[in-house]
Parts: sequence; structure tokens; C-alpha cells
Amino acid sequence: MCGIFGYVGSKNASDLVTKGLAKLEYRGYDSWGVTVAHAARAIVDKQTGKLRGKVASLPGSHVGLGHTRWATHGGVTQANAHPHVDCGERIALVHNGIVANDVELRRELAARGHRFRSETDTELVAHLVEEALAPLPPTPESLLTATLAAFRRLAGMNAIVVLDALTDTLAAAKSGSPLVVGFGEGEHWLASDQAAIVEHTRRIAVLGDGQAVLVTRDSARAVDVATGSPRALDVTEAAWTDAHVGLGAHPDYMTKEMHEQPAVWRRLAADDAPLRELARRIEAATDVVALGCGSGFHAALSAEYLFARAGRRVRAMPASEFSHFARFTGPGTLVLALSQSGETIDVLEAVNAARARDARVAALCNVPGSALTRVADLTVPLGAGPERCVVSTKAFTAKLAALILASGDPDDSKRLVTQAADLAGAFLDGPTRTALQNLAARLVHDEHAYVIGRGASYPLALETALKIKEVSYLHAEGFAGGELKHGVIALVAPGTHCIVIAPEDETKSDVLAAAAQVKARGAVVTAIAAEPHPAFDHLIRVPDLGVASHLLGALPGQVLGYELARARGLDPDMPRNLAKSVTVK
Ligand code: F6R
Repeated sequence: MCGIFGYVGSKNASDLVTKGLAKLEYRGYDSWGVTVAHAARAIVDKQTGKLRGKVASLPGSHVGLGHTRWATHGGVTQANAHPHVDCGERIALVHNGIVANDVELRRELAARGHRFRSETDTELVAHLVEEALAPLPPTPESLLTATLAAFRRLAGMNAIVVLDALTDTLAAAKSGSPLVVGFGEGEHWLASDQAAIVEHTRRIAVLGDGQAVLVTRDSARAVDVATGSPRALDVTEAAWTDAHVGLGAHPDYMTKEMHEQPAVWRRLAADDAPLRELARRIEAATDVVALGCGSGFHAALSAEYLFARAGRRVRAMPASEFSHFARFTGPGTLVLALSQSGETIDVLEAVNAARARDARVAALCNVPGSALTRVADLTVPLGAGPERCVVSTKAFTAKLAALILASGDPDDSKRLVTQAADLAGAFLDGPTRTALQNLAARLVHDEHAYVIGRGASYPLALETALKIKEVSYLHAEGFAGGELKHGVIALVAPGTHCIVIAPEDETKSDVLAAAAQVKARGAVVTAIAAEPHPAFDHLIRVPDLGVASHLLGALPGQVLGYELARARGLDPDMPRNLAKSVTVK
């Protein structure tokens, strides 16, 4: 939710910042903007639309700051794009989060004569910094002092970065939303994500909530927001390299990330020690609650079914609903938080509510050093590498592979997950892909499709439908097969496409019955199954690999969504209205 990139050094800041923003665009792509310090003024170039291929038109400078936006306050206009400047254009500011007390602050600032150029909550923070800076001498320290003073006035969870054109300095403060500092020789970076920095340096430090940092050419120094006292920055080597971040020979990130899945599953199977520890903690807990959002919630629901099979009760719920049940958690509870980014606000709030009641937290998380990994008692790294396509593919199946490994017999599940990795190629490039392209061609002009699964295939039905709708905008709904005849079947008319997930498990006969019922009403049935059946019009063949069939069964939804997006002329990497890492409520 908004990408931030800042630079102080000796290179051309405008170029560096624009390139850095291109690597963060998955966090928001309504509009973008860059500012540089030039002749003691913050000069800004900002535009609506995606950044792709565009360059900022700015004078040469060694200090710059940029932002890609996912709009919260104010429409998608050039005026509302970040950075925002103060009345004197000495400072420029970018922001990730929501200022909860914006109405009061705006009224107060307007009464004191400040002019606003935008409808955003962000701009008022620039004016707060301006006021705090006015009486101070023009030094880097003053920028930090003023940034702290302004930030302490903000309610809500926010991250801000301020550029001072008079002192060639950046200052940042945060109470939520990620910020990473990059360390070089005579140069420093600030970004929302290490993936944007590792091209330049792998020495990074993650800024904690309640911390602020002053960044000059030669130093980056952190302090506590509340007290102003020094805080040590924990400088470590970044987990990712630029090679992980790049596109390689792939046409887009969705393709790249789908193709990376077999390697991710193999790695998880090869080193399952952290998953065995997770299994032990799940076994030892008095109760287990699995939480996530979107695809993360679907993975949590898979946990409920997979552990039930293994005889262990796990309750799944969307992290955003947890607050209604938080009072049932206690010292014996284990919260299993499933999050790619480790920054999703609903997941973090749920985890913090559980921790406040002395519950333990285990995380399945993909981003090392993220907020979730810093609060969890146990983190199992998904090791999927950066996921830059907005829709989740490899991180979802990494969670699923991890859950299959943690819930099953160690040797059997390792063997089956590895076999699934060996067979995934057919879905990504081989004959199954061709079958999915044909299915996409049949669906391309449709408005609705339904996906049916039972048992552990029910979360897959939800995930398949989510993949289709978020990347291709075709309305797809996933259902538990048994629910079909309790209402949903009213939607089925001759020609309606229904996708039926029918693996060789205890759900098969019931799912076949559901397939027959929709077919009897004229539906076109495509099955994701191991064998043909008279109720199926088309078959996407998924070999029977026991519980690991679910891993392969997750691929058709991804590929179908992608092929539909392509057939409809859509960008699979940046779907309408979405952004990755949902750090605001
Ligand atoms: C779906 C998708 C989202 C995320 C959700 C949670 O393709 O990407 O539904 O799964 O926003 O994000 P994380 O896993 O980062 O907590």
C-alpha cells in the first residue's frame, strides 16, 4: 500500500528514485511522484497512472524521494499524488498509512494560514513539519526534531519520509508500514521493501515501529519517536539479491512466480525441520487458531482441513474477524498467522490482540524481517523469494506445501510434495497448460463461473475463484459442494461454466453428485480431477498424489486466471484497484 524510495549520496537521485519506485509499484499504482533537492527547493514531478517506462523530469540532484500511491484520502489526481510540499517548498513529504485525526489537524493548520493544494491527509503533515522547522537552525538535526514533533501529532498507523532541500537530508518516522534503510559508502537509501534496495547494497536495517531515522550522505541514525533517545539500527545482510527481484526471461512477474513454485515446494520439503517444530507446537497447544487475509485466509482454511485429517482441531478465520473472538484466546492458544508480506494490518492487529492475552504466535511468512516475524514466537520462513505480482501464487502454494508437510507423516508428505514439484511443469508449460488455455478461450466472454470443492478442496475452490476474479475480472465464486443445492444452484443456467474439484479422496462421490446436478441444469462442467467421468464435459487432469494433489490442484486457477487476463487484454501483474501488502485498514 504505497511504495516509498529515498536516496542521499552522490549519484543522480532522480534516476535512482524513479528506478527504485518501479520495483515498488506493486504496492500501489494509482499515481507516482518524485522530488529532488535543487537550489534549496523541493522540486516535484508527479503524475497519475502507472510509472512503467516513464521518467521524472527533474534537475540533477544528489538527494531524492519518491512514492507510488494507492489512494486512501482524495481521488486519483495529480494534486493528490505524493510528494506533498510545505508552503515554502523547502520540504517534500511522502506517506504510507492514514492520519486518523486529519480533520482536526487540517482545520487547525488552515486557521494558522496554511494553504492546501490537495485533499490528502498527507499534505497536512508537510505543513506540521514546516511549522516545527521554522524556528530551528537549518541543520539535519533540525529536520529530525521537526519530523518527530509533527509525527507525534498524528493518530493512526503511519510511515512518513521528509526531504529537506535546505540541508540535503531525509528523515523518516513510523508507527506502522514497513521502512528499510540501506547502507552504502557515502550514500544511503530508504525504501518500503528491501527488494528495491538490494540492487545497490545488501547492508540493510529494518526500522521498527515507534522509531525515526535521520539519513544523510554519511550516516543513518535512529531514535525513539516518543523520547527522541538514540536507538541502535540492526544492520544485517539482506536475504534477497537483485537476481531474486528481477524478471529474468519471463514476460511478467505472474509467469515468473508461477514457474518458481516447484523449486519452492522442493526447498520446503528438503528442509522441514522448522515445520516439524511447528507441528510440535500445534500438538502442544490447547487450541489453535489459523489466521490470514485473502489467499492467506484460504491457506488458513486449508490448515483447518489438513490438520483435521491428522486428528488435530485447528480453527480458521479471516484475520479481520478475529477481534470478535479474541477473548477466547489465552496462554494455551497458538495463533498460526499466514502472511506473505508479514505486513498486512489485519493480521498484525489480530496477532497483537492474541499476544495481549498471552497467546503464542507462529508465523508462516515470506518476507524476512517483516513486522510479523518480529512479533512471532516461531517463524517458519516460506522461502519463496520476493513476490512482486500483486496476486499471490507461489506464496499461497508455499503455505499449502508447508501445511501438508507439517500436518502429515514426515516421510510420506516429503515424498508427495516432491512428486508434486516434479509434475508441476505440465501445468505451467505442458499439455495441461494447453487445456487451460482452451478453457480460458471458452470462458473469455462469460460473466460468471462457479468453482465447487469439498473438504480440503473447498479452500482451493475459494482460491481458484479468487485468482480468476482478481486477475481477469470475471466474476467467479467458490462454493462448498454441499451448499450448492441450498441456494447457489439457482444461478446455474444452460451454458453456465462450473469448475469442479474432484480429487481421489473421501469427497469424490459427493462432488461427482454435485457435478451431475449442475450438468442436469445445462452447466458446462470442467473437472480438476484424476479421471474422466460422464458428468464432466472437460477434464484438467491432476494425477492422484494423495494430500499433495491439492498442491497441483492450486495451479489450474492461477494459470486460468492468467490466460483469461491475457485473453481480455489485461495486465496480470497489476490488477485494477488492488495493491500488495495491505498496510491500511
Ligand atoms: C490474493 C492476494 C491477497 C493476499 C492478502 C494477504 O492473490 O494476494 O488476497 O493474500 O492481501 O496478504 P499477505 O499474505 O501479505 O498477508
